[in-house]
Amino acid sequence: MKKTYTIAGNWKMNTLSNEATDLAQSIRQQSANSNSNIILIPPFIHIPEIVRIAEKSRVHVGAQNCHYEKKGAYTGEISAEMIAESGCAYVLAGHSERRQYFGETDEIVALKTAAILESGMKPIVCIGETLNERQEGSTLDVIARQFRAFASHIENSLFYKIIIAYEPVWAIGTGLAATHQQAQEVHGFIRNLIISANPIAYIPILYGGSVTDANAAELFAQPDIDGALIGGASLKSDVFCRIISIADNINKELS
Ligand code: PGA
Repeated sequence: MKKTYTIAGNWKMNTLSNEATDLAQSIRQQSANSNSNIILIPPFIHIPEIVRIAEKSRVHVGAQNCHYEKKGAYTGEISAEMIAESGCAYVLAGHSERRQYFGETDEIVALKTAAILESGMKPIVCIGETLNERQEGSTLDVIARQFRAFASHIENSLFYKIIIAYEPVWAIGTGLAATHQQAQEVHGFIRNLIISANPIAYIPILYGGSVTDANAAELFAQPDIDGALIGGASLKSDVFCRIISIADNINKELS
């Protein structure tokens, strides 16, 4: 089956404005003939400029976080509606760094997911187990809990707008990616959770955690891996664009 791969670059708290501009321009140029869905996720402050660079191209822009309330006295926060107005089509929800360093619970992630959908954007909801949880053998329980926490709040008619990123916490920024077998096992499990929650919607499931141009081909060849959420390697335009080409080539072979 032909898939459209989604390749998303989460720049985290990196890039000053000239670096962000250079990175986005280079990715836009190199990916002009891509058949993948490319998403750049810069720090908030660069969003308007990256949206301008991405205009009339294959590249979409996302945000790394949002608040779940529409407006009000929440100093330092940004609402989903503000992000949508700035030209973003996607927002990450529940990245493990938000869960770990900023106390985001499953309930908060569910509220954010709903707010992102309500504002007309697509949430990329991140789920994944810690090293301890994997070693205890509770990976699939954790994934099921994190999935149900947000999925149970989503209206059926909006379900198809979600993207899920499976990101084992132990693989993020460590250089120790999950093997393609480990990733496929969890992706297959998530696929079944999706089918039982909403049999009609096809939801892309991205893998995240130390993806590079060296392991992307093996990961993308798995039946339930529909692309990648990439941190470190998304800051180097050549490496990021090689990962896009790997996805493009699999697509061409399948078509
Ligand atoms: P990494 O980050 O590619 O640097 O491991 C992935 C992520 O945090 O989304």
